[in-house]
Amino acid sequence: MQAMKESILSTHALSKRYGQRTVVDQLELQVDRGEVFGFLGPNGAGKTTTIRMALGLVEPTAGSVELFGSDVRTHGAQVLPRVGALVESPALYGYMSGRDNLRAVGRVLGGISESRMDEVLEVIHLRGRDGDRVNTYSLGMKQRLGLGLAMLNDPDLYILDEPANGLDPAGIAEIRDLLRELAAQGRTVFISSHVLSEIQQICDRVAIIQEGRLVTLSTVAQLTESGGEFIVIVERPEAALALVRTQPWGQKARLEDLQLVVPSPSGRGRDLVQFLAGHGHWPDVIRERQQSLEEIFLDLTGREAR
Ligand SMILES: Nc1ncnc2c1ncn2[C@@H]1O[C@H](COP(=O)(O)OP(=O)(O)O)[C@@H](O)[C@H]1O
Ligand SMILES: [Mg+2]
Repeated sequence: MQAMKESILSTHALSKRYGQRTVVDQLELQVDRGEVFGFLGPNGAGKTTTIRMALGLVEPTAGSVELFGSDVRTHGAQVLPRVGALVESPALYGYMSGRDNLRAVGRVLGGISESRMDEVLEVIHLRGRDGDRVNTYSLGMKQRLGLGLAMLNDPDLYILDEPANGLDPAGIAEIRDLLRELAAQGRTVFISSHVLSEIQQICDRVAIIQEGRLVTLSTVAQLTESGGEFIVIVERPEAALALVRTQPWGQKARLEDLQLVVPSPSGRGRDLVQFLAGHGHWPDVIRERQQSLEEIFLDLTGREAR
């Protein structure tokens, strides 16, 4: 039997103003149990502010955040212990070993055994280096240790603010693998990034925000489907381009190396062929070109317009 959807994190008309500036604006999010949810937006979009509100670190100007169905402001003491968080760079003691960092946090949490620390060190691939001072760790190792601290009490929900920030591709891949493992164990992961390609492979759904406002919320598959373009070879590309440009769906059409790059009126190739042929432009060749998520991201956040 399929498990019922259970809301693990949701925001309702969540807003934050600093002085005259609205940095989070009427945000509506809902994350279900077991999801890896990507929270995307360019720098300054309001991701960290949203995450701080979700963790009860910053007071919303209006609206609310619910974790496990309870308002963080009124039920923080009950729900926040079920959350593992990593916000910006983790606070680590550089002069202490990785294991001693885990011990220090474990003492604060209480009831964290040495064997749990072994487990966590195994998962974050620091088992062999746990006796070394954190000062000697690479950035990726520090980031993994930060994640390890968040994992100690085996939380149901991870809230991770740009955990891939500043990592090289290998480090990013390691973080991705780790999050996949957590998701496979039924944990819910809410992860922010300003670089779509870092997290698109592991996310079930993504929300994209821009200037504090939700731009889109959908599955990764839906995002790529709707963004499809076609490359068409026709005898008179300039004339075909001018024709397509007269259509509302054809505003983004352009020529690349005398090939027509064009969306379809319906998203389907056959409707594009029918339209072109109907106006005397029989395509010699038509093939689909999937827009990369990165391009969609830039389109949606309107950066090319600036
Ligand atoms: N404490 C604060 N006081 C005033 N402005 C802030 C404060 N925190 C964040 N901001 C502003 O809010 C906007 C969103 O910031 P932030 O949430 O950090 O964005 P992101 O994490 O998406 O890069 C930025 O313009 C930032 O300068
Ligand atoms: Mg941020």
